[in-house]
Amino acid sequence: MILSMIAAVSENNVIGKSNKLIWNLPTDFEYYKNTVRNKTIIMGRKTAESPDFFFSEKRNLVVTRSKDYQKEGLEVFHNLEDAIEAAKNDGEVFISGGSEIYKQALPLADKLYITRVHAVFEGDAYFPEFDKSKWKIVSAKIVKADEYNSHDFTFFVYEKI
Ligand SMILES: NC(=O)c1ccc[n+]([C@@H]2O[C@H](COP(=O)([O-])OP(=O)(O)OC[C@H]3O[C@@H](n4cnc5c(N)ncnc54)[C@H](OP(=O)(O)O)[C@@H]3O)[C@@H](O)[C@H]2O)c1
Repeated sequence: MILSMIAAVSENNVIGKSNKLIWNLPTDFEYYKNTVRNKTIIMGRKTAESPDFFFSEKRNLVVTRSKDYQKEGLEVFHNLEDAIEAAKNDGEVFISGGSEIYKQALPLADKLYITRVHAVFEGDAYFPEFDKSKWKIVSAKIVKADEYNSHDFTFFVYEKI
């Protein structure tokens, strides 16, 4: 199993506000969909309930402390370790947020797919700081703002050294 994390993150590490995304970046959303569409994803309960969340066609694992939580199309786990264990034979598996889950998964991750949005935002959900000396950039692709995308951004992929 390769454990990857995927997130769009502002320059000040904001990832969302009021359980929603805060930018309009359709090119990034397409990239996200194409990256995870056929992969198992693991997410926190709040992200699973976010109105703009995209679900995988393979497996969608949600983590909640609530014992009776159910949602169509989701497999429910009560801690992150059990969700990761359940996905161990699924090849590359994506942690897809939100803030609480990224923070807990970061020490376990092998790869980071970070879309760095080149602007500062106000928000209430953050991606954790990560030590760049412990991760190497394996690809970086710059996308300029245009009539569809509200900001410049860069698709980074990092691997743990
Ligand atoms: N920019 C991006 O790429 C991106 C991607 C995804 C999400 N987001 C944003 O992130 C924000 C949501 O993040 P968030 O931190 O508020 O919520 P979250 O991480 O999506 O979900 C938090 C919930 O997960 C459950 N949970 C967390 N740790 C657990 C554990 N160890 N064991 C069992 N359950 C656990 C709890 O659910 P219960 O309360 O049910 O117990 C907790 O309330 C939104 O604004 C969303 O738009 C952004």
